[in-house]
Amino acid sequence: MNKFIAPEFVSRRVVFALVVSGLFGMLFVFMLIEFDHQTSTEAFCTTCHSMELVAEPYRQSVHYNSPSGIRASCGDCHVSEGLIAATLDHIIGAKDLYKQLFGPDYDNPVVNALHAPDAAFAARQWFKDRDSATCRRCHTQEIISGRRADTLEIHSEGAKGKTCIDCHYNLVHRHVPGQQVFKREAWNRMIEEEYKLEPGTAEKILKGEAAPPALTQKEN
Ligand code: HEC
Ligand code: HEC
Ligand code: HEC
Ligand code: HEC
Repeated sequence: MNKFIAPEFVSRRVVFALVVSGLFGMLFVFMLIEFDHQTSTEAFCTTCHSMELVAEPYRQSVHYNSPSGIRASCGDCHVSEGLIAATLDHIIGAKDLYKQLFGPDYDNPVVNALHAPDAAFAARQWFKDRDSATCRRCHTQEIISGRRADTLEIHSEGAKGKTCIDCHYNLVHRHVPGQQVFKREAWNRMIEEEYKLEPGTAEKILKGEAAPPALTQKEN
């Protein structure tokens, strides 16, 4: 019987190099998985988003305290499924870090509240662009029967050409009106009233012409 003879160039050194790079490749993938996992948790996201607007309403929501004990984490909704998509989301998410470092002082609750509508609209668009894929991780559209007689119907015939986020928003964070009906004026006045600021201050803060009141976010 002919023995298998490796071609000349497959020296012991080449085999060794292949094995080592294979091991490094595996290590890299494991590290990527671990990285995606660690950077999808509530603990990670709330190092920055520890705020009244996002984390607190979330903890009051049924997605945090569901009767069945299923909890949707920040990453369950906001980070795509799959290693490549999740990693991409985190790379794109690095713009958060850039804004945190070089943007306005988002840790200030007033600044945060004034910017919240734009952040909410951007987030809604993200879900829309993906046909609410992360929602569908847990919810199967065809069997959503809800508490009303027509809920099943709404999610079949009624939902044609629409995606979850078109009908369901303001689920777990501070409420922001739909983009079509949103009025910047009204929002600014509301935030001013909430923080007892002079009318007109909001516009100045947004333009960087006035400093926001010295307030700090509540800690987690
Ligand atoms: C380094 C701080 C930091 C971390 C960590 C962080 N964010 Fe952000 N995030 C920001 C800043 C700053 C903004 C911009 C705020 C704004 O536009 O009002 C932002 C904006 C957002 C938006 C608004 C939509 C958009 O794309 O601009 C979403 C959604 C969001 N973050 C989700 C998350 C989630 C989920 C996590 C955890 C996986 C996370 N963030 C981790 C700082 C951070
Ligand atoms: C059940 C799904 C879900 C979970 C869980 C969730 N989010 Fe969101 N998030 C949304 C949706 C939907 C929006 C779009 C704005 C809206 O309608 O509330 C949003 C918007 C945001 C925004 C934009 C600013 C704003 O106030 O709308 C930030 C920042 C954000 N989420 C961060 C987080 C963080 C941090 C967590 C975990 C503490 C989290 N989200 C958990 C669905 C979710
Ligand atoms: C980790 C799983 C999970 C994810 C992801 C998730 N949900 Fe849910 N959702 C639940 C659970 C659990 C409940 C509690 C009620 C129940 O058990 O039916 C719920 C309840 C709801 C409700 C009814 C209660 C309410 O707050 O009005 C709606 C509507 C809803 N989800 C829509 C969404 C949308 C839209 C998304 C994506 C932005 C989403 N869900 C993402 C698990 C999830
Ligand atoms: C055409 C608009 C529309 C679309 C699209 C839609 N829904 Fe709904 N959904 C509704 C309405 C209306 C109700 C009934 C609300 C109620 O009972 O208060 C409902 C009810 C629900 C409920 C049950 C709430 C309860 O406890 O009674 C869940 C969960 C839900 N939707 C999740 C989703 C998810 C996830 C998607 C995407 C896969 C989706 N919906 C797509 C309009 C829509």
